[in-house]
Amino acid sequence: MKFYNKLISWYLQNKRTLPWRETKNPYFIWLSEIMLQQTRVAQGLAYYLKFTETFPTVFDLAKADESTVLKMWQGLGYYSRARNLHYSAKHIANELNGEFPSTYKEIIKLKGIGDYTASAIASICFNEPTAVVDGNVYRVLSRYFGISTAINSTAGIKEFKTIAQSLIDKKQPGTYNQAIMDFGALHCKPQNPLCDSCPFANSCVAFEKKLTKALPVKEKK
Ligand code: ADE
Repeated sequence: MKFYNKLISWYLQNKRTLPWRETKNPYFIWLSEIMLQQTRVAQGLAYYLKFTETFPTVFDLAKADESTVLKMWQGLGYYSRARNLHYSAKHIANELNGEFPSTYKEIIKLKGIGDYTASAIASICFNEPTAVVDGNVYRVLSRYFGISTAINSTAGIKEFKTIAQSLIDKKQPGTYNQAIMDFGALHCKPQNPLCDSCPFANSCVAFEKKLTKALPVKEKK
């Protein structure tokens, strides 16, 4: 069975029910993905609900005062995320007629959106096969393939992106991307990964070589 088949089959049985998984509206997906950077799902959830209630469309967010947006962001930290979010909302509302760009290439041009967020939005909302690489993905792939290249090195960033891209399910890239992130968050955890009940145990290099604790490798800078 292909890697993505195993992964998605795990996901369908174990995925978290989350409000942004009930929509493909790129504005909502964008909000959720920005909020979830450096923030745990459990904490981000309340902010997501509050934001989408207060600003149900990109026009509502664009119209708001920056001070209101920053106030609602209080507690999430990394305030540049909120400032960029507001800046890009104004850009989308005023320059793009409220229409969210629909390809990775266009999405990544927005302020505050990097490779991870552009890949997440393009795959989840527009079915573009662009693989996400976040901390969960680094952990799953470094362990499964036994890769000890540092995940924060230039070579590592390139290597893991290439592998992630080669593994994606092109028919359902958004589901695949969320599956690998959930698998990393819930099963292939940083501490005490659930190897005994892992669908990948018979082909995981780290499991075979007892390297789960040693991977992924992070370079001290
Ligand atoms: N972390 C950030 N975004 C996520 C998503 N869409 N699914 C699972 N984990 C995530």
